[in-house]
Amino acid sequence: MEFGKKILCIGAGYVGGPTMAMIAYKCPQYRVTVVDINPTRIAQWNSDDLPIYEPGLEEIVKASRGKNLFFSTDIEGGIKEAEIIFVSVNTPTKTFGSGMGMASDLQYWDKTAKQIRQFAESDKIIVEKSTLPVKTALAMERILTATNNGVHFEVLSNPEFLAEGTGIKDLEDPDRVLIGSRETTSGLKARNSLVEVYANWVPQDRIITSNIWSSELSKLVANAFLAQRISSINSISALCEKTDADITEVARAVGMDSRLGNKFLNASVGFGGSCFKKDILNLVYLCRHYGLEEVADYWQGVVTINEYQKERVITNMLGAMFNTLAGKRICLFGFAFKANTGDTRESPAVTISKRLIEEKAELVITDPKALDNAKMDLNNIDGKISYVEDPYEASDGCDAIAVMTEWEAYKNLDFEMIYRSMPKPAFIFDGRNILDHKRLFDIGFNIFPIGKPPLTHFK
Ligand code: NAD
Ligand code: UGA
Repeated sequence: MEFGKKILCIGAGYVGGPTMAMIAYKCPQYRVTVVDINPTRIAQWNSDDLPIYEPGLEEIVKASRGKNLFFSTDIEGGIKEAEIIFVSVNTPTKTFGSGMGMASDLQYWDKTAKQIRQFAESDKIIVEKSTLPVKTALAMERILTATNNGVHFEVLSNPEFLAEGTGIKDLEDPDRVLIGSRETTSGLKARNSLVEVYANWVPQDRIITSNIWSSELSKLVANAFLAQRISSINSISALCEKTDADITEVARAVGMDSRLGNKFLNASVGFGGSCFKKDILNLVYLCRHYGLEEVADYWQGVVTINEYQKERVITNMLGAMFNTLAGKRICLFGFAFKANTGDTRESPAVTISKRLIEEKAELVITDPKALDNAKMDLNNIDGKISYVEDPYEASDGCDAIAVMTEWEAYKNLDFEMIYRSMPKPAFIFDGRNILDHKRLFDIGFNIFPIGKPPLTHFK
């Protein structure tokens, strides 16, 4: 069969895999190939055991794989063949040299650009899918045109807004698709070509276009605003705990103002995930680079409050459990950074586990999807940690349960049975406010929610 467009994606991760699976699924007339330098990851994409857990992903991969969706390690062949190349490689925070701990590490990006230049024999549209510092497209253009090999490259920015756990729904029914381009004839032509891809299933009024720098910057700003809301509500949760106000009631009252809206106002143990922290730090770094110290300080505050919130979990546990956690068994309910994913990158549970081990507590970790990642994250930690899939078995004999992830399954457990299996006094720290606190209190637990008065049986 002759395919209408040949699309390549470099980087088969949380973004590249699902995004391309959705394009292939919605556009059977296009041939979509996803390549990666990691052969294990590609083998997993070609197997029944996909490398990431995302509700609905398996169905769409199985529907298209081998027909118009291919996973491969042949980067050279993929580049030669494609007309549109999405680049979705990782852009983590730099861990070395200048900008360490703040700036984006662009080494994978840089290598990819050079590979594209090396192997391309015909004109290509290059689509920035990774999240990047504003002005990266300029660097990309400079690398691609450095050898003047007669091939024309047009660089577009098309940031991804999917959230893990709801990724497939977000891709199928996005709030918006953003495409940034140069405002030249060839830039606008390339932009139209990408609009055409999304128009196969996304309504035209939700496909928005802009200049390329606005598009790059909008992605960083969207994540910064989302994270800012969580830090805002988490900062107020601390004040609620001092004043007997209830964070759920405050969030409800505030969120009913239609100008503010009611989403993203759940107080928690802090935000995690691979992107919020790294993207804000990147924004802060950019602001400092341009001499905007006040702006940088403002956004740095969002990360600072998040670190404070994680530490508050430990302080609250210490305060509640008579100022010592040494030798106490703490069961963590959940390790993923949010529900419906096995991803643990920057999960608050990682930091909290390390702190609990410093306090010489013993940890029992349970999670329906993230135990393998949890084991890797805590691999080098010197302390007593066990990993147990069944929450009843995990909490058996523990002094406290601390809810780290808002898995639906935790709401409906038999807490009477759990209570019987724990030494007394038995504690629950609900870091997500998902449990029925009054009922648990009536069973006999001492309950410490986030941003609400505790319910304890102590006189
Ligand atoms: P990831 O680490 O899961 O995947 C990146 C993949 O790129 C890896 O499999 C890696 O092996 C591969 N890779 C690196 N260099 C390569 C090269 N030279 N050639 C071929 N493959 C190469 O990362 P991710 O979570 O998919 O994120 C990718 C980008 O998308 C980041 O910039 C991130 O900020 C952004 N983003 C992520 C999410 C998310 O939910 N995870 C959402 C929106 C945007
Ligand atoms: C986030 C954004 O929501 C996506 O739009 C963006 O594409 C993505 O980052 C990215 O660039 O990687 P994600 O990190 O997958 O998506 O998940 P979110 O739903 O945003 O949750 C992030 C963290 O905030 C989680 O730890 C979650 O538990 C926490 N959170 C979220 C709260 O603590 N309270 C809330 O009210 C909402």
